[in-house]
Amino acid sequence: MGWNSWNKFACNVSEQLIRQQANAMVASGMKDAGYRYIVIDDCWQKSRDADGNIVADPERFPSGIKALADYVHSKGLKFGLYSDAGVLTCGGRPGSAGHEFQDARQYAKWGVDYLKYDWCNTGPRNAEAAYTIMAKALRESGRDIVLSICEWGDNHPERWAQPVGHLWRTTGDIFDAWQGKEKWSHGMTDILDLQAELWRYSEPNAWNDPDMLEVGNGGMTTTEYESHFSLWAMLAAPLIAGNDLSKMDADTRRILTNADVIAVDQDPLGRQARRIWKEGDLEIWARPLKGGEQAVVLFNRGKAPATMKVGWDQLNLPEGLTADAKDLWNKQVSKGLRGSYAGTVAPHGVIMLRITPVP
Ligand code: GLA
Repeated sequence: MGWNSWNKFACNVSEQLIRQQANAMVASGMKDAGYRYIVIDDCWQKSRDADGNIVADPERFPSGIKALADYVHSKGLKFGLYSDAGVLTCGGRPGSAGHEFQDARQYAKWGVDYLKYDWCNTGPRNAEAAYTIMAKALRESGRDIVLSICEWGDNHPERWAQPVGHLWRTTGDIFDAWQGKEKWSHGMTDILDLQAELWRYSEPNAWNDPDMLEVGNGGMTTTEYESHFSLWAMLAAPLIAGNDLSKMDADTRRILTNADVIAVDQDPLGRQARRIWKEGDLEIWARPLKGGEQAVVLFNRGKAPATMKVGWDQLNLPEGLTADAKDLWNKQVSKGLRGSYAGTVAPHGVIMLRITPVP
């Protein structure tokens, strides 16, 4: 769980921005909710010096990366950077190709805890080999650094990225819309559809990454952002906020810090949800939780409210079982349910439930 600069700020990064976001992560309650990593995405780099060392943009980061990492750490947070396996990053800054060990040593000296490693300008490189080199470089750096693989699902990372990295992007970039497809990017529900078959590849320390959150960036309604956040939690996705933490409205904060939804995302079993039923615009996603509980999302992609029902048989629970179901958004608990749960789901909305069998 953390925050990354890209979705909201793109190349417009600076040390003031990063300090401000770190402050806001603490002040807003995001840190208390479990968010830890502050990650600077592309465009913090400028050049390489005569020895080949990577140099941060001196105008945007005049105090240097080490001082910034120290500042983030002083807030009880972790610090992340971005690089690329190519000669240049996607934003045209120096990449790490041929400098992997040198860069990893530099990151360790600076106090970096997380590296997002992108895939632009990599020419004929083999992805598994390229990411394995950086993984080795990070391990040999002497510092514990999370490796976030970002090759957009192009080379079936689900087949090799565990144990190379800790998380891997499964698609091109998300954009802040309910739906849609552009050349390299997709709206929220289009990204969701690309995750449905990947459930078997995700496990603790090795996560499918359906890309960062757009909650709070303005392109979707509050209901749609609740759906986005619920579904990402069902996917056991890394929850990387991508909004301006210093300017969150009440709904954005309420969504991003919903402790019940976060608990589903972070469930120790680490199992990704499966889409267990779909008919037209209506679908049901379910994921087993530790201790025999289940998380269920009733999802309505349609334009009208829909009455939906999930039966215990669909969840592989005994039909005679009595269970309580907590609605994780309105916090109401339906007690002593037998056989099924039914409710009315708002257009573009979800009902997200935690189902607890009663002994
Ligand atoms: C790629 C990645 C994005 C972001 C940009 C930065 O598109 O997929 O998440 O890091 O590069 O240029």
